[in-house]
Amino acid sequence: MKHPLIGPSILSADFACLGREVRAVLRGGADYIHVDVMDGHFVPNLSMGPAICAAVRRAAPRAWIDVHLMVTQPAEFVDSFIDSGANHISVHIETVSKPAALLRKIQSRGATAGIAIKPETPWNSVASLFNLADLFLVMSVHPGFSGQKFLASALPKVRAIRSRISAAQRVELDGGVNPSNAAACIAAGCDALVSASAIFASDNYARVITQLRGGRAR
Ligand code: DX5
Ligand code: ZN
Repeated sequence: MKHPLIGPSILSADFACLGREVRAVLRGGADYIHVDVMDGHFVPNLSMGPAICAAVRRAAPRAWIDVHLMVTQPAEFVDSFIDSGANHISVHIETVSKPAALLRKIQSRGATAGIAIKPETPWNSVASLFNLADLFLVMSVHPGFSGQKFLASALPKVRAIRSRISAAQRVELDGGVNPSNAAACIAAGCDALVSASAIFASDNYARVITQLRGGRAR
């Protein structure tokens, strides 16, 4: 079985000691750090802005930082997140009228670019980006909160996208991923798994990260 990259989402980290949390998951084997940005418009919650991204960068100078923009105006924030240390930015297809131009802009700034889809958005809504996006983010919960139940309806979308893109491009699954469903996610073709609550609610980050990567249940 192919092992996916594991990206802990700091949405469930203890913000009062964020630097320590980031370093702990990296020490526990995390491949990258996922930063969930919410604006209270695209999703019914507020989370974090570029200053938090910069704080993660200071805490972990060599970490790969993956920013997931759940905002109605992503184009307005791309530069500030890249200036704050983001290596990758995903924007939602539901929010952009000219996704190719925005993805190219992200890439022109030296970051990789992803396109994200909500649970109710079909996989073929991103078909025009199959030759452009570096990453396809398939959401397996409704965006806005960590700790929700995994929606298995995301898996056929992962399969459909994975079979139509190159080996160099990635499919990332985000929401409700835990050691019990990781094997199914990996079998569907996920290259990267995001997890907030399963990792940060645990008393042993390294163990959960290892379980997620191997697709093994507790
Ligand atoms: C949801 C975010 C996810 C979320 C995952 O809006 O995009 O990254 O934090 O949290 P868990 O793993 O707890 O579902
Ligand atoms: Zn996310």
